[in-house]
Parts: sequence; structure tokens; C-alpha cells
Amino acid sequence: MQIIRTVADLRAALEGKRGPVLVPTMGNLHAGHLSLVRIARERGGLVVASIFVNRLQFAPHEDFATYPRTFERDCELLAGCGCDVVFAPADAEIYPEAQGYMVHPPHGLADILEGQVRPGFFTGVCTVVLKLFNLVEPAAAVFGKKDYQQLLVIRGMVRQLALPIETVPAETVRDASGLALSSRNGYLNDSQRAEAAQLHAALSKLAAEARAGRTDWRSLEREAQEFLAARGWQPDYVAIRRQSDLREPSPGEPMIALAAARLGGTRLIDNLEI
Ligand code: PAJ
Repeated sequence: MQIIRTVADLRAALEGKRGPVLVPTMGNLHAGHLSLVRIARERGGLVVASIFVNRLQFAPHEDFATYPRTFERDCELLAGCGCDVVFAPADAEIYPEAQGYMVHPPHGLADILEGQVRPGFFTGVCTVVLKLFNLVEPAAAVFGKKDYQQLLVIRGMVRQLALPIETVPAETVRDASGLALSSRNGYLNDSQRAEAAQLHAALSKLAAEARAGRTDWRSLEREAQEFLAARGWQPDYVAIRRQSDLREPSPGEPMIALAAARLGGTRLIDNLEI
């Protein structure tokens, strides 16, 4: 496995190699990230994983400075699951000058839910992902459904900007308690970690009731928020939406329940297709 730090070395390493598969990450890898690498592997072709903590997608009060950086271990894990190239550029390599050109995803998709709580977040994500796409020129890129809105925002960018890249979705990997794996789970203390599975539990209960025929979405959302709040969470949202574009569902359309809530100082998100 090659470890590459600069754009020049990346271009040299990929020269003549057609159709790599890209797995973009911010590092501190866990089994969820590694499942994406395995999916990339199965497609054949060169597997490129990027590790880059993208400051453009962090608001000033967020955890950019303290985001866990575990590069050595990340490389061991990547080598163990068949990654060919790790692209881990320094900040100045990706942003050698102030990034004035940005990709602004559309309001109706990117300024709701995560985008409403984290203004500018998806602009930061799209801008870095487009840049990574331009650097790696992948035939395909793998993204987790754990960040479902991010997946839709990136798919929209690929479609509307006619990027010749297939976006491949990957199922959410959870631990035995149901908690979706996340780099931010590392911020939880023992008792918070035991509690954290309740986010998934709340979504599972909501989904079960919706499947059983309840259509009073607003009440279902409120009940889940109240359940979490009563256990000490601070919910940002629980929302039942249409899977295709996260707008209000109409009866019969595939739906998804999405939630974000803070437990102590840690913000967790999760979702469940209904
Ligand atoms: P990061 O949070 O490191 O996630 C990298 C990829 O791993 C994303 O596609 C995410 O959806 C996926 N992922 C995270 N947890 C997962 C889990 N439990 N199961 C399956 N997949 C999971 O998402 C980002 O980084 C950044 O926004 C990025 C796209 C790299 C742009 O900076």
C-alpha cells in the first residue's frame, strides 16, 4: 500500500491507472469505513482511500482542532483490508490559497436537517469532495448511508454537474447494541456509550410504528424527541422524510427516519429506512 502526501505524487501514482475507486474519509477509521473499502475492493481496480480532516466543513465552534487523528493505526487498518493507495494530504496541499470557489448545493436539500443545524456544512463537504474527485478521477466513489443526507447531496452534485463518477452507497455498520459506528463515539464516556444506542432504539421504535400503519408523522417525530430528551439527550431533530430527496413523504413512498441529538458534548446522527 502506497502512502501519498502530495498532489504531485498522487498524480504520478495514478498516471495511466484507469478508473480507481475512491473512499473519502476524515480518518480515525472504524469498521464502518473499512466496509466501504471492501465494497471498493470488490469492484476491481485500484482502491484509493483519502484521509483529510476538511476544515471547510467545520464551523468555528465545532471540533476541527480536536477531531481524532490516528494516522498510523488508520494505515494499518487500510493495509489489512486491501487498500492500494492512501492519500493523506496536508491542509496546505488541498487549500494552498484561500478557497474562494465553493460548491453550493441547493437550498431545499442542503439547508434542511444537518444543513439547518450546521450552516455551510454541505458546501464544505461538496467543495472538498469535488476537489478529491478532480485529483483522483475515480470511476466510482463509495459513501456510507450513515450520513444519508451527505450521500444525497453528493449524488445530486454528481448528477447536476455531470461528473463521470458512480456513487456507491454502503449500509451503516453498527455495534452489537445498535449504535452506528462513528469517529465521534470516541468522545463518549462509559455511561454515555451505554446510553448512545438509544438513538437507534428510538428510530427503530418509530420505524416499527410507521410500518405498522401509523401515518401521524409529526406525532411519531415528537414522541421520539421526547423519549430522547427524557433520557438526557438534546435532540436537534427527528424527521420522517421521503428517501429520494428528504422532502415530506406522501403515502406509499419509501421513507426514512433521520435523527441528530447531543449526548453531553457529543453530537450523534443516525437514520433508518422505513
Ligand atoms: P467520515 O465521517 O470520516 O466518513 C467517511 C465515510 O464513511 C462517509 O461516506 C461515511 O458515511 C462513512 N461512514 C461513517 N460511519 C459509517 C458507518 N457506521 N457505517 C458505514 N459507513 C460509515 O463523511 C465524511 O468523513 C466527510 O464528510 C467526507 C465525505 C470525507 C468529506 O470530508
